[in-house]
Parts: sequence; structure tokens; C-alpha cells
Amino acid sequence: MKFFIDTANLEQIKEAQELGVLDGVTTNPSLMAKEGITGEENIKAHYLKICDIVNGDVSAEVIATTYEEMIAEGELLAALHPQITVKVPMIRDGVKAIKYFSSKGIKTNCTLVFSAGQALLAAKAGATYVSPFIGRLDDVSTDGMLLIEDIVQIYANYGYKTQVLAASVRHPMHILQCAKVGADVVTCPLNAIMALLKHPLTDNGLKQFLEDHAKAAQKAAL
Ligand code: G3P
Repeated sequence: MKFFIDTANLEQIKEAQELGVLDGVTTNPSLMAKEGITGEENIKAHYLKICDIVNGDVSAEVIATTYEEMIAEGELLAALHPQITVKVPMIRDGVKAIKYFSSKGIKTNCTLVFSAGQALLAAKAGATYVSPFIGRLDDVSTDGMLLIEDIVQIYANYGYKTQVLAASVRHPMHILQCAKVGADVVTCPLNAIMALLKHPLTDNGLKQFLEDHAKAAQKAAL
């Protein structure tokens, strides 16, 4: 399973990259706004900085919501760097735009997916990735993980190439459950990735090893 980081924060992207487990980055307009990145040129420059840090795909979301505008904006984004994946919302014109981008060999990430039917359409249109939002479904008392499971099964039934990119991941259990049901990618905040590291028995065990080593070294020095 690939690990993407879901942020536009360069420090966090560097930290995940330095850990050696990062396969890509996803952003969205809210995450870009959170970093104070506005204006066409600043936005483009920021995507290029992200591409410099990470080796894998970097999702850059279109702001346009009509077919023609999405095509124009997506083509500009895709031309920025070979790692750029054009992120397109799951709306009627978005599906048409994904079909167009797919015919031109431009990578796409179909976002804001909340049902298996939407995911089926994204795959039919040839999306590279589909982004079902787990946490936001959990937020409205609907099991987001069941959606990931359904999409994985549907895609396997027909051999769709679209990769299931589980988004709106909030905690380490989401990551583990995605791995169990066979999601291709999880995109997570840095704290969810780092939380996978934690176990009190690891910390206690390491403390004990180091204490025992120090004691033995002291004894040998006497
Ligand atoms: O990038 C889309 C998604 O991951 C958003 O997550 O936590 O805002 O629901 P969240």
C-alpha cells in the first residue's frame, strides 16, 4: 500500500519524505489556503516545491467546475511537472474532464467520492486514482471503511486499473483498516503516519536494553 501525505505544508512533507516511507502527496484548495498559498503563480510555484521534495505523484486540484475550464486549468497544472496529477471533483463535468484527461495520458485523481456508484463512474472515465473520503463519512454516522471495501471489490471484479486512494484518513486505525481491505493508497496527515510508530512496549523495551547495556559496560570497566 502506498503512503501519500495529505497536506500542502512543506515541512511536514519533508519530514515524511525523510522517514523514507512517502510515495506521494495530495493537496486540496482548503489545504493550500491553510498554508496561505493564493494567486495562480504562487500556487504553481508551491506545487513545484512539493514535486522537488517527493518522488511520487502530487495531486493538484482544479478550482474550475465547468468542463472547458477544468480542461484548461488541468492542462496547465499537468504541464507544470510530470509528477502532477490533476485532481477533479466528482461532478458531471468532472467525469467528462477525467475522460478527456485520460485520453491525453494526463493522470487524474477523482475527489469528493462518497459512494460506490461515484467510484464506478470514475473508473469508467479512466481516473488514475479515486478518492473516497473515509473520515467525512464517519462524521455523518456512515462507515467510511465499508465504502473502501466495496470499491476495492467492485474494481477487482472488473479489473479496473483505477487505484483506490483512501482519503480523509484521520487516525492510524483508518490506515490499518485500509491495508486490511486492500486500498492501493492511503493519504494521511503526518500525525496519523507517525502514530503508527508508537507502542509503549517498544519504548519500555528499548529503555531496558540501553540500561542493561550501560550496566554491563560499567561492570566491564571496573
Ligand atoms: O484531501 C481530501 C481529504 O483527505 C480531506 O480530509 O480530514 O478534511 O476530511 P478531511
